[in-house]
Amino acid sequence: CPPCGEKQMRVVGWRRVASTLSPSPPAPQSQAGGDAARWARMYEVVRRRGLVLPNSEVYGGLASALDFGPLGAQLKKNLRDRWWRDFVERRRNCMGLESSVLMNRAVWEAAGHLSSFTDPLVECKLCHARFRADHLEQGSGGQGYMCPCPQKNTDFSEPKEFNMLFQTRYGCTEDSPMIPLRPETAQGIFTQFPAIVRNHRPRLPFGVGQVGKSFRNEISPGHMLFRMREFEQMELEFFCKPEEATHWYQYWVQESLQWLLDLGIPSEMLRCEEAVGEEAAHYAACSTDIEFLFSFGWGELWGIANRTDFDLRAHMLASGKDFSMRELQESGSTHTLPYCIEPALGLDRLMLALLSATYTEEEVLSADGQPTTRSLFRLPVDLAPIQMAVLPLSKKEPLVSIADSFADRLCSQIRCEVDVTQSIGKRYRRQDEVGTPFCVTVDFETPHDGCVTIRYRDSMFQVRMPMDQVVDIVSDSNATLWDFQGPQSTECSTG
Ligand code: GAP
Repeated sequence: CPPCGEKQMRVVGWRRVASTLSPSPPAPQSQAGGDAARWARMYEVVRRRGLVLPNSEVYGGLASALDFGPLGAQLKKNLRDRWWRDFVERRRNCMGLESSVLMNRAVWEAAGHLSSFTDPLVECKLCHARFRADHLEQGSGGQGYMCPCPQKNTDFSEPKEFNMLFQTRYGCTEDSPMIPLRPETAQGIFTQFPAIVRNHRPRLPFGVGQVGKSFRNEISPGHMLFRMREFEQMELEFFCKPEEATHWYQYWVQESLQWLLDLGIPSEMLRCEEAVGEEAAHYAACSTDIEFLFSFGWGELWGIANRTDFDLRAHMLASGKDFSMRELQESGSTHTLPYCIEPALGLDRLMLALLSATYTEEEVLSADGQPTTRSLFRLPVDLAPIQMAVLPLSKKEPLVSIADSFADRLCSQIRCEVDVTQSIGKRYRRQDEVGTPFCVTVDFETPHDGCVTIRYRDSMFQVRMPMDQVVDIVSDSNATLWDFQGPQSTECSTG
């Protein structure tokens, strides 16, 4: 941890800034790690509710490739927008960029990815399955690796360095050159550095952010959204004077941590791991991984690296172009090759972390007084894919028409849907399972008194109110009253 100098730390009691409506803290049972059955249930909810879908499923799928259903796509967009707002738009000295996935092969040669973007690969001599050596369990007695095959073989080939770049042919003839699909968005920023300086005349320090797809031919993809071959990154390259690099490195570690806490991720699910010198990636002098306690244990969520002037220098040497910045000083002007601090976050991993941190199972009483378990995601109101579901109590008119026209009015301001199928209790469950914070029920009295019943996901508290007041609940930044544990916390008091 750069701020305290310890090599490893658990983030305890970090400053927390109130955001709009934060979710209730997850129940203690929602801690990640440990309970495998519980995590299997969470993954099952995510799949059953179509947040994440197997890719090309009708043809038997494509191993480890995943699609995002309508609600997953919306949740990702909400996270992406939040990152862009907080790391690009709202920072006076940061700007955005959109570069291509495909780049000149020379970029990857200069940046060192053709030679150094490798992971150690080993092959089981019995079943011939291939693994990343550092992902295999140690055999009994701590000697060698152990294959997950039934024989628990420990006899493996020598580790070979496997290059993870995906390559594609650029052009339509057989001799068209093979070029990599980018494994990080960062190089698009580094190679456009001279153009950005020329066109925008920024002063140091300044940042350039980018969101986009990256591709890595991972040896062992897995854990759903954790390690994928095609994934999305949100990266900021923050350029500063070399002598200020340590300051900005520490600053971005803290900013990144704080951002995760503001998202509602509990501090006890986060920790920092620092890597220095040889332990860090080939381009970095040092880096800090913010790790999250995933279902399988601690795993990297966000990497903050001090890339020094490694990339700008490499491209300057290889291209012969000038990447230095002219800076005016009292004594005249000097040329500086800036250092770069890079907070690099995976959007898919972030989504998995948020789902894991907010997943809760709790015992409630059903309408007939029987104990039952409900599963929910306590997603923050501004990130939830659906913010309000409108539920007509019956499919009969005029309830459905009232619900439809009410939702028509709402949807210019909030994300809402009308849900008409099955009993009201089942609809509440369905909305809980996709993290919808508010359900509004249109009942048989609504046509007469213009009132509806609104229910808050986390407390299941319900209250009747005029339809006109309902929108204010979602937009009210002080809406914590919805956390109130009302007397009617059985589920189906409206039906
Ligand atoms: N430009 C620096 C860079 O790419 P990285 O630590 O390799 O650094 C940054 O990746 C982030 O991208 C990781 O912290 C992780 O969140 C995400 N990421 C990396 N590989 C991934 C994969 N195979 N699947 C999903 N996310 C991945």
